[in-house]
Amino acid sequence: MHLEDKVALVTGAAQGIGNACAQALLEKGCKVGLVDQNTVVGNESKNNLDKQFGTQRTIFIPCDVSNEEQLKDAFKKIFEHFGRLDIVVNNAGVNNEKNWEVTVHINLISVIRGTYIGLDYMKTENGGNGGAIVNISSLAGLMPVPSQPVYCASKHGVIGFTRSIAMVSKTGKYGVRINTICPGFVNTPILQTIEKEENMGQYLIYKEELKDMMKCHGLLPPSLIAEGLIKILEDDTLNGEVMKITTKQGIHFHEYSPLPFQANKQ
Ligand SMILES: NC(=O)c1ccc[n+]([C@@H]2O[C@H](COP(=O)([O-])OP(=O)(O)OC[C@H]3O[C@@H](n4cnc5c(N)ncnc54)[C@H](O)[C@@H]3O)[C@@H](O)[C@H]2O)c1
Repeated sequence: MHLEDKVALVTGAAQGIGNACAQALLEKGCKVGLVDQNTVVGNESKNNLDKQFGTQRTIFIPCDVSNEEQLKDAFKKIFEHFGRLDIVVNNAGVNNEKNWEVTVHINLISVIRGTYIGLDYMKTENGGNGGAIVNISSLAGLMPVPSQPVYCASKHGVIGFTRSIAMVSKTGKYGVRINTICPGFVNTPILQTIEKEENMGQYLIYKEELKDMMKCHGLLPPSLIAEGLIKILEDDTLNGEVMKITTKQGIHFHEYSPLPFQANKQ
């Protein structure tokens, strides 16, 4: 996809990975709808982006992605404001093992809903221009994490859903590519949650272990995740891919053996 003048919606865009993605999309000439529940940081972030890219290139929509009406409204406002929608980045996420239902709601249910709403706007049979959806998972979506079982489950869910719906999109000729990114530890405010009982609950005892893991593996800069996003968006051959980003191997793809129903066809 050629990114100049395309319109992107990024959830969790106020800070961290979402903000880096918004910045990278703007650098490529996109217009970006910034969606986040944190109104203060969201407005600050828009002001900073305005200084670099001008006031017309972004719109900030305060929205809790786990609220169906708010999420639908955010898509509607961004579509109406910019007149089209080409890219959705379902990035908003939390680490909360204590209030774990919230984690499932934000990290998985909202990603599923954001994908379905995005498809409603973008798929060609609905008169859309086609486009691309990128769902942010984690390396925790590919392996067990004893200190974060529900976060881990939510991120596994994102991968399973994304790979499956990508196949539906291809066979249904939706014109929308759907991929996922699985980063290792990224240097963003979410990492501070491992120190807090209100987030970790009974798993707070693992905090030193988690910190040691971070020291051992190192932290990725958010800009590298944004670089992975741009690579997925610009390469029209990618659909249903699971991009991993690690300090050791940088940007690369998870390899799966052929699925049973695909192997039968060969
Ligand atoms: N930082 C890491 O180490 C890491 C690693 C792998 C995956 N991820 C994933 O990357 C994504 C972004 O995380 P981050 O590291 O930038 O975290 P972050 O906490 O820095 O940023 C998350 C953003 O999402 C927003 N958000 C949270 N809940 C929301 C809701 N209900 N509605 C709207 N906005 C909401 C927050 O306000 C915040 O701006 C998450 O899905 C996270 O699970 C992070």
